[in-house]
Amino acid sequence: MAARNRLPPWHEHIRLSNGREVLVRPIRPADADPLRQGFALLEPDEIRQRFLHALKELSPDQADRLTRPDAKREFALVAAEPLPPGEALVGAVARAAITDSGREAEFAILVSHYIAGMGLGRHLMRRLVRWAKGRKLERLWGDVQEHNQPMLALAQSLGFHREAAPEPGLVRVVLDLTPARTTHHHETPQAA
Ligand SMILES: CC(C)(COP(=O)(O)OP(=O)(O)OC[C@H]1O[C@@H](n2cnc3c(N)ncnc32)[C@H](O)[C@@H]1OP(=O)(O)O)[C@@H](O)C(=O)NCCC(=O)NCCS
Repeated sequence: MAARNRLPPWHEHIRLSNGREVLVRPIRPADADPLRQGFALLEPDEIRQRFLHALKELSPDQADRLTRPDAKREFALVAAEPLPPGEALVGAVARAAITDSGREAEFAILVSHYIAGMGLGRHLMRRLVRWAKGRKLERLWGDVQEHNQPMLALAQSLGFHREAAPEPGLVRVVLDLTPARTTHHHETPQAA
């Protein structure tokens, strides 16, 4: 593999509050195997909170799909060891996908308990918000289990509000990215 392909073009080094350094970067197809290995170390509860149902393992197909986001409508970041993709263990994944309406995106995030509580969830969510704003989307939302206090608190602190979710037991957390337009349903030019 050419040296320039060993690290993705955009990445950032983050030092966690315990001193450990992780690389935040877009997910790569080479992450599929580390993702499957890391999945085996997750608690059933973490998996349920992320996927909203139980899942014993990540199949090769599922892992492959997760590591090949469609650049036109999806964005997925990992926090991984500072090693080339494929060698690096993956500790967290955050993703967002534009919905069929084309105006909003749904997010999902999982920070493994090994590195939870050190600011990564907040950092990754901010990166998703930045991406969604860059795509000029109106809303970024995710469905969260109603007793998932850490995610509900994180979302609230980032300015998300709560809405009813389509399924009982879930809460939809929503961030309005263009409040003037989405709340009034018409353009409000400043000079008007
Ligand atoms: C929810 C989750 C993403 C948080 O990630 P994290 O890296 O631990 O979060 P951070 O360290 O950045 O903390 C951010 C905020 O989350 C909240 N939070 C984190 N851990 C918490 C806990 N144990 N109890 C209550 N609030 C908590 C706090 O508001 C915290 O802000 P603060 O540090 O200013 O108090 C992570 O716990 C996770 O992946 N859980 C399993 C999967 C999941 O629930 N996904 C969400 C549905 S898609």
